[in-house]
Amino acid sequence: MRQDQLHSLLAVLADGQYHSGQELGELLGVSRTAVWKHLQKLAELNVKLDSSPGRGYRLPGGLELLDADTITALLPSTGVPLSLEVVPLVDSTNSRLMAGAGQLPTGAVCIAEQQSGGRGRRGRGWVSPFARNLYFSVLWRFDGGAAELEGLSLAVGVCIAEALESFGITGLALKWPNDVLAESKKLAGILLEMSGDPSGACHLVVGVGINVAMPPAAAADIDQPWIDAASLTRAQGLEPVSRNKLCASVLTKLAGLLQHYPEQGFAHWRERWMRRAAFLGEPVRLVTATQETQGSLLGVSDSGALRLATSSGEQLMYGGEVSLRAGS
Ligand code: BTN
Repeated sequence: MRQDQLHSLLAVLADGQYHSGQELGELLGVSRTAVWKHLQKLAELNVKLDSSPGRGYRLPGGLELLDADTITALLPSTGVPLSLEVVPLVDSTNSRLMAGAGQLPTGAVCIAEQQSGGRGRRGRGWVSPFARNLYFSVLWRFDGGAAELEGLSLAVGVCIAEALESFGITGLALKWPNDVLAESKKLAGILLEMSGDPSGACHLVVGVGINVAMPPAAAADIDQPWIDAASLTRAQGLEPVSRNKLCASVLTKLAGLLQHYPEQGFAHWRERWMRRAAFLGEPVRLVTATQETQGSLLGVSDSGALRLATSSGEQLMYGGEVSLRAGS
């Protein structure tokens, strides 16, 4: 089945109005049988369709598809050196940019409507149903290796939180190192991957997943407490968030972060992270593969390390496979 035809079909149905099978076939230049097969495919993607004899098919409430031109037009006209591609389906936007890291320009962005193998931290998956959430990655080259990127993933969390707040959403929190939470549930996740020389010229891929309007059927596969922007805007009496606008807002902030991070470092972002820190002053447990440390959360250092007040004094935790849970 051709992905471009499926996408064109969705682009027509996105207006939420009825379209007859004949009209859809003519618009796409395919037979009515082919249209019907595409409509079946949409049902498999959990895209809910109404059909009515004599009127045709419609997507109730319509659908906002992601569009590279729309997003690009929302970026500031200067100082944001990004080149966007929107794909209907990819295994993982991070994998796609990691695979192309040697050839693609710095600032390449891959945005997907759906991921068949979305990846999270610590080997987890990232549930990525079609056309409801945001999944995108940005490729950036750095000359100074991993050392100049210390704390960067925390700053990405600040960018996402500030972008969501620009739509009026309140009550967001950042859980070290880089989960974006609301009501203590996960709203967005960040996956940073690097290739090249860890002490010199390297490629960084920043992957961002934001739950915008998670369909209940897909949510059954999520293995942790989660929340989406749609339930927050409903509860807070706000307009639903446009995925194109939210994507543009996060990308604008990310471009600024990536461009200036080597000079600014995490110190520039620390105060904005601290303002939203989850569990501040509360008892927490830091769990690694080999040890568990209990203490009270003091915040983060200028390099993004976690500061924990323990019975043997203050301890600094630097990245790694650490998970943070509320203590008893
Ligand atoms: C986490 O576990 O919190 C990180 C989730 C990161 C998910 C995003 S979605 C876009 C990009 N592509 C992926 O495969 N993962 C990241």
